[in-house]
Amino acid sequence: MRIDTAAGSILCDPWVNPAYFGSWFPFPDNSLLDWETLGDVDYLYVSHLHRDHFDAEHLKHFISKKATVLLPEYPTSQLEDELRELGFTSFFKTKSDEVHELDGGLKIMIQALISPTDGPIGDSSLWVEHDGVRMLNQNDARPTDLTRFNELGHVHAHMLQFSGAIWYPMVYELPDAAKTAFGKQKRDRQFDRTWRYIDDLKADHVFPIAGPPCFLDDSLWKFNDIFGDEGNIFPDQSVFISEYAKVGGTNGVVLLPGSVSELSESSISTTHPTDVDEFFANKQAHLEEMRERKAPVIAAEKASWRHPEIDVLGAMKKRIEPLLEESIYMAQGVGGPVRFDLTDSFGPDGNVVESIVVDFPGKQVRPYADEKVRYRFKTGRALIEHLIHIDEGDWVNSLFLSCRFSAARIGQYNEYVYAFFKCLSEERLQYAEGWYDEHEKAVEAEDTVLGDWTVQRRCPHLKADLSRFGIVDGNVLTCQLHGWKFDLPSGRCLTSVGHKIRAEKTEKA
Ligand code: FES
Repeated sequence: MRIDTAAGSILCDPWVNPAYFGSWFPFPDNSLLDWETLGDVDYLYVSHLHRDHFDAEHLKHFISKKATVLLPEYPTSQLEDELRELGFTSFFKTKSDEVHELDGGLKIMIQALISPTDGPIGDSSLWVEHDGVRMLNQNDARPTDLTRFNELGHVHAHMLQFSGAIWYPMVYELPDAAKTAFGKQKRDRQFDRTWRYIDDLKADHVFPIAGPPCFLDDSLWKFNDIFGDEGNIFPDQSVFISEYAKVGGTNGVVLLPGSVSELSESSISTTHPTDVDEFFANKQAHLEEMRERKAPVIAAEKASWRHPEIDVLGAMKKRIEPLLEESIYMAQGVGGPVRFDLTDSFGPDGNVVESIVVDFPGKQVRPYADEKVRYRFKTGRALIEHLIHIDEGDWVNSLFLSCRFSAARIGQYNEYVYAFFKCLSEERLQYAEGWYDEHEKAVEAEDTVLGDWTVQRRCPHLKADLSRFGIVDGNVLTCQLHGWKFDLPSGRCLTSVGHKIRAEKTEKA
């Protein structure tokens, strides 16, 4: 998205090239826009380092290096470092939640989220005000609430995520019926969260952005929402509009690549390069045409993955063992061995040629020894070879988001597994461990009363305020921010391992 004001232009997250092992492409296709012109901007805002927001190739070739980067306040300097490497030299370092006034009266505020589960250790939203018009590009960030933005006055345009951006539940080795049921639950939850944010901000106009991606490789084609599968987690903008209408929403605005909305305090007018309804009615044809056009791009990517000369076990040992040694919270949180079955293909199909275990309790990486494991991932050996070859320190922002794997697990979802594999560097590991340490202390502090129960005020998951997000039904408390459930009499988290909640039945007077 590009924001143009009389006091300057801001380009946000220009993503064009496929991300995550050639898996995700922007939908609808934006590669045919006039990027020379669009890239000639005053400011650049890259919300976070996920590769469907940070497109190095595109930033390098098409975005003016004269642009000043509006930088979120992140705990590590990785975003700035990577942008500097691409040739950007001018940086405006924002303070999270603080309004900054730029030339010509353009006001901006970036809210940086910094927990180990926010993006690749960091995700952010951009608030902009000029000439009395305010907008929030919430993007795919998930703040606990939008209070800080509300304090700054009525917002006219709210851009936010509504679709899925994860591998769950598609990659899990589950019967189809279970997968559909979980997918449907997830799809509903995504929409519920979106309605909640929309209701929090009450902007005049709501723009569904930041997703869904589309999948053009043959092996991933099934993930596109074109088969009438109610368990598909990637509904598109037209589905958003119809679901939004069901909850009474009438102020949704869909933008296609090339669409322009002119916004004032009291009006909006939008022009499109093509008829929007017709476009979505022909979605399948659009995707098929795109698939043919992008096939050489995927083929070229695939040709670069194999490095059979790499000793995968040795390289994983070298990278991961020192981190296991230092990890306290995450290693404990994972609590068991995690197995990688490596195949001779580019994904979970094909023959397993090597089986490696990352043993969290044993603090070791070693060959699989016919044991019970916490999680099992199955993927192409070539993908791991590639990660080692490019020295990738974040396997979530590469392997897992590619969806080119299958997974099985014993027990519930374990966020520490994914947190650990996004922290395969000293800097990130130390940061995440420190965050969990502080977090543990913070959740201990305060209580709140919900119905008949006195519970800790902050959700054991990501500290949401349960006096706002907690709903008690019988003995079960649900935190509505991410839908985690807790059994109050025992305190047990029903959604994920660990994360016990402190709860006590309130004594009746
Ligand atoms: S903060 Fe995520 S479920 Fe409560």
